[in-house]
Amino acid sequence: MEVVIVDRPGDGAALVAGAIAALVALRDAPVLGLATGGTPQPVYDRLADDCSAGRLSLAGASAFLLDEYVGLPAGHPASYRQVIEREVVARTDLRSEAVHAPDVAGEERELPAACARYDDAIDAAGGVDLQLLGVGSDGHIGFNEPGSSLGSRTRLKTLTARTRADNARFFDGDPEAVPHHVVTQGIGTILAARHLVLLAWGDGKAEIVARLVEGPVSASVPASALQLHHHVTVIVDEPAASRLERAGYYRETWASKPAWQGI
Ligand code: GLP
Repeated sequence: MEVVIVDRPGDGAALVAGAIAALVALRDAPVLGLATGGTPQPVYDRLADDCSAGRLSLAGASAFLLDEYVGLPAGHPASYRQVIEREVVARTDLRSEAVHAPDVAGEERELPAACARYDDAIDAAGGVDLQLLGVGSDGHIGFNEPGSSLGSRTRLKTLTARTRADNARFFDGDPEAVPHHVVTQGIGTILAARHLVLLAWGDGKAEIVARLVEGPVSASVPASALQLHHHVTVIVDEPAASRLERAGYYRETWASKPAWQGI
């Protein structure tokens, strides 16, 4: 697990945009794993800038979303499909038809089959090349709440009261408006991506970053499952890094890393 401590989220976003540009140069049809929440926003801003300036094209890329709320009316502005349409598709040349989200439109009893189809679609696309991740204050990735099986696949989950409160800001501040149910890629699904990039900004994430990077691997901290993956980059700003015991070592490693290696 590589930990990169940056001065500002924008510096982290530049590293991720560089990794995506390298992927686009390497592969005919790169597959991106897109996250939502506030954390990836600087990355999406940077991708938008790079595409407008002609430094990057996502026209040949496809994307799979990590998760989606169940029960929101079609086109609800807080639905993750709509967030990605607004923040990525509308601002880059990524094609809307190339963006895949869990299918939550049917009856709830049809969801298990839809979830299995989603995992199959990821496999059929050749798997995710680069998966962006944020982390919830309770350690969730996607919407895999504490206690999620570390081998889980895409499935229906119930949000904790804490996550619904954390996400109320996207629902006019009303936790009651946040759906109870979601479909999320499982931890096993996420771990199948070839490169995982987890981002965290601000001191509100400092404790959970320390637990996921330096604590034991445990279903109680779903993001700690990243320790099992062969290519993980954790990019944090100084406040989010403030509880890391080995911060000095991570800085030293990054400072002496040859530039050609990238992240
Ligand atoms: C939601 C998303 C996660 C995200 C988390 C953190 O729960 N499902 O993918 O990582 O929020 O949100 P934020 O980035 O806003 O802190």
